[in-house]
Amino acid sequence: MKRQAIVAANWKMNGSFGLVTEMSQGLADLGLSNDVSIVVCPSSPFLAALTDAFEQEKACEHISVGAQNVSEFEQGAYTGEISVSMLQACKVQYVIVGHSERRSLFKETSTQVAHKVKTALDAGLVPILCIGESEAERTAEQTETVLASQLQPVIDEVGIERFSHIVVAYEPVWAIGTGKTASPEIAQQTHEFIRKFLANASEDIAAKTPILYGGSVNAKNCQDLFAQPDIDGGLIGGASLKVEEFKTICSAAK
Ligand code: G3H
Repeated sequence: MKRQAIVAANWKMNGSFGLVTEMSQGLADLGLSNDVSIVVCPSSPFLAALTDAFEQEKACEHISVGAQNVSEFEQGAYTGEISVSMLQACKVQYVIVGHSERRSLFKETSTQVAHKVKTALDAGLVPILCIGESEAERTAEQTETVLASQLQPVIDEVGIERFSHIVVAYEPVWAIGTGKTASPEIAQQTHEFIRKFLANASEDIAAKTPILYGGSVNAKNCQDLFAQPDIDGGLIGGASLKVEEFKTICSAAK
């Protein structure tokens, strides 16, 4: 089955208003058709500026803006948190949830991640649900157990049917920002496991769910990764800060 190809940029805690302008102008020149959905996820202070910049460039109309995190709470005394309604006010359409940096550095649990996915879905945002194992877990042959333990709470919380509005991003922690990309074979094998795991709950939904690969994707390795049957695009960190390289990656996802 042909699934929508998606390339998402995660700027992490990088970027500037200058990059907002540079990226919107650069992507406007790319002239990609709707075959590839592009999502750019800057830090929160740049969300509104990026949606405005894409709106002003006719050629960027089909490009979406995503946030890197969202609060599981609706509103109230949660200093430093950002709610779904605030993201909606910035016309954000996607939100990254459960990135490994949130899980490891900010101690987000899979239960919290599941709540965030529900909060995002209820507000009509598309969650990009990140899952992935550490190097020690892969070495100990725990990869499948870890991925299952990250996926199951979300299935339990929202139900498998709502995965038709979720994008899954497989990001092996050992490949993030390390330059040690998973080989296309290892990535494909793991994506296949994720799809089969979802298929245990619903074959139909599993066949439709986009599964992105993330972890040291760059202009050189993206083609081989995106050629794999269960890899539907990428979640790009470092390389998404370089406009020309990011454009090359987007073009490879067709
Ligand atoms: O969200 C993106 C991933 O963490 C990948 O980051 O491309 O810098 O390895 P990276």
